[in-house]
Amino acid sequence: MPQLMKRLFPSLREIGKEFILNGPMHQKEYLVNGRLKPWNGPVQEVLSPVLISDGGSAAPFPLGSYPLMTEKESLEVLEAAEQAYDNGRGEWPTMSVEERIRHMETFVFKMTDKRQEIVRLLMWEIGKTLADSEKEFDRTVEYIRDTIGALKELDRNSSRFIIEQGIMGQIRRAPLGVVLCMGPFNYPLNETFTTLIPALIMGNVVIFKPPKLGVLLHYPLLEAFRDAFPAGVINTVYGDGQAVVGPLMKSGRINVLAFIGTSRVADILKHQHPRPHRLRCVLGLEAKNPAIILPDAAIDLAVNEAVLGTLSFNGQRCTALKILFVHRMVSDEFLKKFSQKVSSLSMGVPWENGVQITPLPEQGKPAYLLDLIRDAESLGARVINEHGATVNGSFFFPAVVFPVDSRMKLYHEEQFGPLIPVVVFDDIQEPIAYMVQSNYGQQVSLFGNDPQQIARLIDPLVNQVCRVNINSQCQRGPDTFPFTGRKDSAEGTLSVSDALRVFTIRTLVAAKTSPENKGLIKEILRGNQSAFLNTDFIF
Ligand code: G3H
Repeated sequence: MPQLMKRLFPSLREIGKEFILNGPMHQKEYLVNGRLKPWNGPVQEVLSPVLISDGGSAAPFPLGSYPLMTEKESLEVLEAAEQAYDNGRGEWPTMSVEERIRHMETFVFKMTDKRQEIVRLLMWEIGKTLADSEKEFDRTVEYIRDTIGALKELDRNSSRFIIEQGIMGQIRRAPLGVVLCMGPFNYPLNETFTTLIPALIMGNVVIFKPPKLGVLLHYPLLEAFRDAFPAGVINTVYGDGQAVVGPLMKSGRINVLAFIGTSRVADILKHQHPRPHRLRCVLGLEAKNPAIILPDAAIDLAVNEAVLGTLSFNGQRCTALKILFVHRMVSDEFLKKFSQKVSSLSMGVPWENGVQITPLPEQGKPAYLLDLIRDAESLGARVINEHGATVNGSFFFPAVVFPVDSRMKLYHEEQFGPLIPVVVFDDIQEPIAYMVQSNYGQQVSLFGNDPQQIARLIDPLVNQVCRVNINSQCQRGPDTFPFTGRKDSAEGTLSVSDALRVFTIRTLVAAKTSPENKGLIKEILRGNQSAFLNTDFIF
């Protein structure tokens, strides 16, 4: 076993006390109708991907447990949400924007108190590094603050009347109803909140189901949710998707599905809804973003970006670079430098200083990655970097697989892990054909310096994907930029401002500009009698 795999599993005594959890966390309650309701039914045990050594052996560290709810509680939660919405007549959907913002500010204030606890749980539950866990928390808080800013701006722009063809109208964005929010395990806090927060602040009510991995880290926020929002505005469900999500979708009473996960599951959920035309979907799905390294690319820069793009959080980002196309003229130099850099990455537990590769939280993932390698090897590729594909427990040392071609699974499947297929090409039409034929259409990275060639590529590629990155890895941020995809990669667009749109519908109050109507509307405005028909300006 190589040196780098030997000391991966610390004993509890070796872990700094600032990273130790305060005992196991057994969540025996769920949030419904403004209260934390006790749960005495079956529970799901949560094991950390971080293995702890105890004498001679190492075992996954038990973190606690969470409720395995059933259809009954799921429908109870749905009823609480519907009651709070009250067909759009509830306190929350009819509240003024300014007041809703005040509730959200209370929440974010309470949330910031939980930073240390949540960061620690992110590390233990999904194996994210300390730096990335802190970044995920801080980015989420910033996202909430930016959302509040964007809503103020939206409200200011809607706080006036438009007069057209003898009709005066005030146009605003109104909520849609009950939103089911389901986030992914790789960004369990951030990606969930990029739908949950805008859905809430726009006046919808939310049922939140955390991902399969990354559940307990939400537990410290339940009291903040309970105390910051009116009863029933935010509710939680836990458990097996079929048991708790199926009944919600089949009820036909979910108005918006905000789901980040696979297109396979998204399709099942959509089809469960009896009236799909009533369901709005906001989906973030799979991707297989390619990087294309052109003959005149700055190789050192391309190598650095490709390492970040393929291996940040062990390649478990929907935006990760998941296949590299390298022009034959530069393939030797690129592969040599890239493989060396990959093999120099440090592997360890999430809180270790400067660690880059951490344990994988999905059980069975190392076996799946090895299967992809076996398939590629049987067709002529091999792992070309030192230590590549060495496995120890939940650790998988990143592997560069070369030369990959279209006969191999690794060419088509989203590996979502530290495995990097490299394809060599002679004609630029080869990577373009890959993108045209791919089921995915999120982003691409182009590495090159010839303005004419880059320009010639941009025009066809912007119609294949939704973001073309030049001389940089693929990424979602900044969060004010639109984040979406084509084909099986997404439905709907998210960004701080787009999310406010996606969870609402444009609605207006209109009247002919007769003196009587003008008088009537003036009276309503003067008395501040409606939250919607209102020209107040939020400062
Ligand atoms: O998994 C998908 C994330 O939204 C990616 O975000 O590109 O900022 O890491 P990121």
